[in-house]
Amino acid sequence: MRQKHTITFEITGMDSLGQGVSKITDKVTFIPKTVVGDKGEAEILSEKKGVAFARMTKLGQSSDKRVTPACVHFANCPSCHYLHVDYAQELLYKKESFERLFRKLPLPELEVVGANRRTAYRNRVQLHYSLKSKLLGMRDPQTFQITSIPKCLIGVPEVQKELERLYENNQWLKEAPPAPLEGHVEIYWINNDLKVSWNRPYAEGGFTQVFEEMNQKLKSILHHSWNPEQPTELLDLFGGNGNLSDGLNYSKRLCVDMYQKIPGTDFLSQDLYDERALKNIKSELKKRSMKVEHLLLDPPRSGLKNLKVWIEDLKPKTIAYVSCDPHTLARDVQSLEGYHLKKAFLIDFFPSTFHFESFIILERNQ
Ligand SMILES: C[S@@+](CC[C@H](N)C(=O)[O-])C[C@H]1O[C@@H](n2cnc3c(N)ncnc32)[C@H](O)[C@@H]1O
Repeated sequence: MRQKHTITFEITGMDSLGQGVSKITDKVTFIPKTVVGDKGEAEILSEKKGVAFARMTKLGQSSDKRVTPACVHFANCPSCHYLHVDYAQELLYKKESFERLFRKLPLPELEVVGANRRTAYRNRVQLHYSLKSKLLGMRDPQTFQITSIPKCLIGVPEVQKELERLYENNQWLKEAPPAPLEGHVEIYWINNDLKVSWNRPYAEGGFTQVFEEMNQKLKSILHHSWNPEQPTELLDLFGGNGNLSDGLNYSKRLCVDMYQKIPGTDFLSQDLYDERALKNIKSELKKRSMKVEHLLLDPPRSGLKNLKVWIEDLKPKTIAYVSCDPHTLARDVQSLEGYHLKKAFLIDFFPSTFHFESFIILERNQ
């Protein structure tokens, strides 16, 4: 049996995953569910050169930033990271995390747009299950352990109600497919309808932003801060159903997405990670006699690694980049030459977790 390795810790900083950082042993140690000012004991779960990952086992001295988490599952659930501090503190940690990533670029003042609630906002949740261990819940990305979360508060009321139903008398065991023995289920409140899908790709039924009120805020900010005065020619990459570009002042638009197949002349289905993507889009633009004056992009977490190649070819006047992963956003933007950052926003689409939406505007140098 593996010997438990316990350390004492003192949290002096937070990382971008919402974990407390302790530096009092020979290794920088990352401990979820702790906050600056906490002291205690933790069990090391894994370690490599210079760093260790641990789980708090005893809280000796509690930080004055701590509050009682709204959710009963918070201590064990891997999906929420900040319910042990108040929302102002959560936003501050998120802001610091964003600014750290952009320290190499001259970032204009970052505007932080908070949410009006921290729970009951997600229109979909994805749970993992194991028929072997008869467990349904959130899976820890490190240990792969599943934590049951019958009283999870993150979903909109319709999602919470469905979650309760699935847990009641282990109803989910009757509804899960007999094979595979392990998988996932998504509960999705979409178009005023509830979809429960087992082992299907993420956002089955079409992508929508998870927090509708924040989506409306993002759109309003985009429309106020980026909308050209004159009708313009616009390319919307990873555009989904046109959510973000609908209503912008364009004379021509090409909205590109791989999974949304919307009929209409300004929609195109294309895998944007395919090596022929840029060539195909350029030929579509030519067919439509379109020149890209403004580029909007909102990729999945992986970002658009070769953004530089796209920009050097298309040379848009401005770029609006919306991203749910500031790490890939910073990576993609740092590679650009001939553009400067004009505006930056942190829009909190994912309260209680370390995730947030970032939105930046870049302008071509004169
Ligand atoms: C973060 S969402 C943004 C969608 C849209 N802008 C919105 O606000 O609803 C990312 C989009 O990328 C699309 N997508 C994912 N992988 C893709 C790929 N390889 N090529 C093109 N689109 C992809 C998804 O279908 C999804 O609509």
